[in-house]
Amino acid sequence: MAGIQRRTVLAAVGGTVAAGGAVGSGLMGSGTAHAAQSAAVPAPAKAHSGPHEAKVRSLLARMTVEEKLGQLQQLPWSYNTGPGGAETKDVEDAARKGRLGSVLSIFGARSSNALQRIAVEESRLGIPLLFGLDVIHGFWTTFPIPLAQAASFDPEVSKRDGEVSAKEARSNGVHWTFAPMMDVTHEPRWGRIAESCGEDPHLTSAFAAAKVHGYQGKNAGELDAKDRLAACAKHFVAYGGAEGGRDYNTVDVSESRLRNFYLPPFKAALDAGVATVMASFNTIGGVPAHGNTHTLTEILKGEWGFDGMVVSDWTGVQELIAHGFAEDGADAARLTLNAGVDMEMTSTNLVAHGKQLLKSGRIKADRLDEAVSRILRLKFALGLFAHPYVEESAEITEPSKQARAAARETGARSMVLLKNEDDTLPLSASASSIAVVGPFGDSSDLLGTWVMPAAQEKFPSVKVLDAVRKAAPGAKVRYARGVDAEGKDLSGIPEAVAAAKAADVTVVVVGEPPAISGEAAARSDISLPGAQEKLIAAVAETGKPFVVVLVNGRPLTIGGWLEQAPAVLEAWHPGVEAGNAIADVLFGAVNPGGKLPATFPRSAGQIPVYYNHENTGRPYDPDNKYTSKYLDLPHGPQFAFGFGLSYTTFEVGEPRLSGSRIAAGALRKGDTVEVAVPVTNTGERAGDEVVQLYVHDRAASIAQPVRRLAGFRRVGLAAGKSRTVRFRLGAADLGFWSNDPHGEFRIEPGAIDVYVGNSSQAEAKVTLTIG
Ligand code: NOJ
Repeated sequence: MAGIQRRTVLAAVGGTVAAGGAVGSGLMGSGTAHAAQSAAVPAPAKAHSGPHEAKVRSLLARMTVEEKLGQLQQLPWSYNTGPGGAETKDVEDAARKGRLGSVLSIFGARSSNALQRIAVEESRLGIPLLFGLDVIHGFWTTFPIPLAQAASFDPEVSKRDGEVSAKEARSNGVHWTFAPMMDVTHEPRWGRIAESCGEDPHLTSAFAAAKVHGYQGKNAGELDAKDRLAACAKHFVAYGGAEGGRDYNTVDVSESRLRNFYLPPFKAALDAGVATVMASFNTIGGVPAHGNTHTLTEILKGEWGFDGMVVSDWTGVQELIAHGFAEDGADAARLTLNAGVDMEMTSTNLVAHGKQLLKSGRIKADRLDEAVSRILRLKFALGLFAHPYVEESAEITEPSKQARAAARETGARSMVLLKNEDDTLPLSASASSIAVVGPFGDSSDLLGTWVMPAAQEKFPSVKVLDAVRKAAPGAKVRYARGVDAEGKDLSGIPEAVAAAKAADVTVVVVGEPPAISGEAAARSDISLPGAQEKLIAAVAETGKPFVVVLVNGRPLTIGGWLEQAPAVLEAWHPGVEAGNAIADVLFGAVNPGGKLPATFPRSAGQIPVYYNHENTGRPYDPDNKYTSKYLDLPHGPQFAFGFGLSYTTFEVGEPRLSGSRIAAGALRKGDTVEVAVPVTNTGERAGDEVVQLYVHDRAASIAQPVRRLAGFRRVGLAAGKSRTVRFRLGAADLGFWSNDPHGEFRIEPGAIDVYVGNSSQAEAKVTLTIG
C-alpha cells in the first residue's frame, strides 16, 4: 500500500516539474502538461469523519458550481467606505449572489454584521461569510512584535497575546486571524523577520504551538466560543529563505533543509490544531509555493493529514503568471487548485475560470468539492451557521486594564540586555536628573509592524519620556531629540549633548521606525538609520554615563558605538505599553531575562550568520588562512543566538544524562534520555535565566549543524538559589530528515554532543551515544 502511494507521489512530482518547464519553453502544449499534472495529483487524505460532516455533505449537495467556486473566493474589504459604500459594493454583490466565501480586513460588530446579513439573508443558500484579519500581535492591545516575544524564550507570552487578541477581535466580528507567522529565517535584512520567531526551528515551533493555543484554545471544538479565533500557519513554506533577504525573492532549498529548518514549526502548529494554512509568495526550487503539489498536497495534506483549509496569500494565485509558472489566469487557477490551495485571496481566477476548467477536465469536481468542504467545515466549526452575527453591545472597543498589564509584562519580559558595564543599569529611581534623547524618546510609534491604523490612532504606544518621568518622580527629566530617525540633519545634536551634560545619566532611545521593518521592508544596510550613530557618539563624548535603548524590528549591526556605550538594552518594538515596559527594565522593577532569537551580525556583509550552521570542511582557524572566514572581520557574530545578560549572574553547571547510551530502536519506540542541568543564581538579586540545551551529531550521513537547540527553559531564581532543570531528548531531537522527498527521518548510530548553558555558545558538554 505504502509502495503504491509512493509511486503516485513520485509521478506527481515529475508531472509538476514537467508542466512548469514545458510551459516556459513552449515545447509541450499547455493542455498536455496540464492534463498530466491534474491526473497525477495524489488523492486527498482519507474521507473526513468530523462532527460537521453530515451537514457539510448535505449543503454541498445543494450547491451549484458557481456557489461552490464562490466559497473559494476571498475579497478584501475597504476600510474607507464601509457598508453600503461605493468601494464595498462589489463585495456586497458577490455576497448576495453566493459568489463569496470570505472577506478580509473587515472588523467592527456593526460593519461585519451588516455584510453578514447580506450573505445569510439574501443569498440563495444563506451560507455565512468567514471574516479574516491580520491580527498579528494584537487587535486593540498591541503586544510586542513576534520577534520580541520569541526573545522572551517563554511561549506562554504568545499564548496570552493570542488569548487577548482573540477575545478583542472576535467581539468585533473577526473569525480568523492570519497568524501566527512561523517562517524560520537567517536573514536580518528581511523585514519580515519582525513577524517571525527568528532563526531557530525548535524555538519557533514552541511559539507557533503556543500562539495557536492562545487563539483557538487547547482543545478541538472551542472555535465557536465568543473569545476564539481560527489561526493560520503561514507562510507555507520556506519564505524566510528569500535570497538576499529581499522580500518575495526566490528560495531554493534541499529537501533536508526544507524538512529540518522550515517545516517543523508548521508541523508543530498542526499538532496544536491550527485550522488553516497560508501559502507563501516564494518559489521553492523553481516551483511557486502557490502551485507546489509537493509541499501543499504531498506533505501538508498527505503526509501530515492536514484537514483544514489552505488559503492563498494576497494575489498569490495571480502571481503564478509573473513567476513564469502559469500562462494566464485560467492556468493559474488550475495549477493552484490542483496543487492544494483551497481559497483565493483577492485575485479572482478560480471564480472566473473554474467552470471552464471543470468542463475541460483540467480541474476535477472532486477536488473542487474537497476544497469547498474544507471551507464549510471551518464555518461550521466556528459556529457561523448557528450564530452568524456578533452581539453589537458586547463589542470590545478598547484594551482592558488586564490586557494592558499583559502587554506591559510581555514587553519587559522580551527585552534583552546586551551590555551592562559597571552596573550602569538599573538606573536609580532617585536620580536627581535624567536626560532622554533620541528620535524615539518622545515617540508613540513603537507598536511595530502590522498594526491596524485604527489601533495606531486610538491606542498608540506609551512614550519612554512619559514613563521615565513616572518611574523617577523626583528627577528633573529633560528631553532633546538630537536627530531624526532617518534624516541626515545634525543640528539638534548640541541640544542633546547639553541635556546629557546636565544630567546624572542619559537614556538614548534609537532604532528603526516600524515602517522600515515588516512586509516589503527589506534593508541592505541594517545599521541604525540616519544619523543616530552620530548622536550616540556625541553623547559618549560627554564622558557621562548613558544607556542606549534600541527599538527595532530586526537584528541590527552595531558598529563602533558598542564600545562607547556603557549599557545597551534591546527593547524591540514593544507595543502599546512600550514606554512603561522599557522603564520597568531600566529602573530594575523587572530584571531582564530575554535572549536573542536571532544572531546579530557584525556587518551586513557577514549575512547569513547563524548559530545552527554546518561546520564546512575547513572550519575557522585563526592560524590558518585557508579556513572559512572573512579577512576583514573578527570571526563569529556580534551577539550570538540565545545571548542575553541580567542584572544578576547565573551559573549553569555540568549536564548529567540518565544514561550515556540509547539504542536507535528504543528512540524510535518513544524512549528518551533525561538531561539534568543545575542552575544557580550567583548574584545578589532575583532574576531569570534561560537554560538552553543544544545537540550536535558528530558524524552523520548528512552534515549536521554545529549545534541545534533541542530544549530551553526560562526559570526565575531568587539570589543565591539553585535548581535543577530537566530536559528529555527523544527521537525528534536526535534524528534528522534526509533528502528523500517522501520524508525519511533518520536516527543514526554514533556520538551526540549535548551542550548546556545560557547561550548558543554554551560550553558545558556531555556525550550521548546512540548505539
Ligand atoms: C500579505 C502577507 O504576506 C500576509 O502575511 C497577509 O496575511 C496578507 N497579505 C493579508 O493581509
